[in-house]
Amino acid sequence: MRFVVTAGPTREHIDPVRFLSNPSTGRMGFAVARAARKAGHEVALIAGPVALRTPPGVRRVDIVSARDMLAAVQAEIARADVLVMTAAVADWRPARCAKTKLKKGAMPDTIKLVRNPDILKSLKRVKGLVRIGFAAETGLPDAEAARKCREKDLDLVVGNDVTRADSGFGTATNRVSLVTPDGRVRHLPLMSKLAVARRIVAFAEEATKRKGRCQ
Ligand code: CTP
Repeated sequence: MRFVVTAGPTREHIDPVRFLSNPSTGRMGFAVARAARKAGHEVALIAGPVALRTPPGVRRVDIVSARDMLAAVQAEIARADVLVMTAAVADWRPARCAKTKLKKGAMPDTIKLVRNPDILKSLKRVKGLVRIGFAAETGLPDAEAARKCREKDLDLVVGNDVTRADSGFGTATNRVSLVTPDGRVRHLPLMSKLAVARRIVAFAEEATKRKGRCQ
């Protein structure tokens, strides 16, 4: 099977030396790429700016912004069976990016933001593709994961509470819930991100069979 995995943050530049972003380190996505490759799949890993080594046998595409990530996903998706969006995509970007560094005297005290495209939502109509999303939440993780599952028409949403010390951004472990479109919520115990990744890959393999895309 062919997996496309996104990982890490995106950066939305204000000028060449400043940007809006988030604390994602890419660990969860790199673990999914590693687990999928280990299970014998072909993997394209689309990564925002992170400081991680590419897992062996994985093809990596580096991007910076949400719009770069959308273009990279679109370029890879035609040949893919599974898309796993672990990336923490910035929802907004500055309306304008200055070509040269803004001097503090010239820095405006407000920055106008515009919405970035929703990558998962934009792929709703790709037939037969198994789509898996993440929901990084600071409250009501299960309810929010269920909402995203419906709104983005996903096969699985992996919900996690990023306010916990043992889960979320930058940790080696994760405590997640798996939310499916039938409304089921399965709470997994605290486990390594690689163990969570293996569960996701196993789910994707089953879901792909159900969709009849692969044998
Ligand atoms: N996502 C995406 N494109 C975006 C934002 C998010 O494809 N512009 C994906 C993420 O990679 C993740 C899922 O959508 O798999 C949910 O992302 P999250 O940031 O939790 O939710 P949002 O859609 O941004 O919704 P909200 O701001 O209401 O939490």
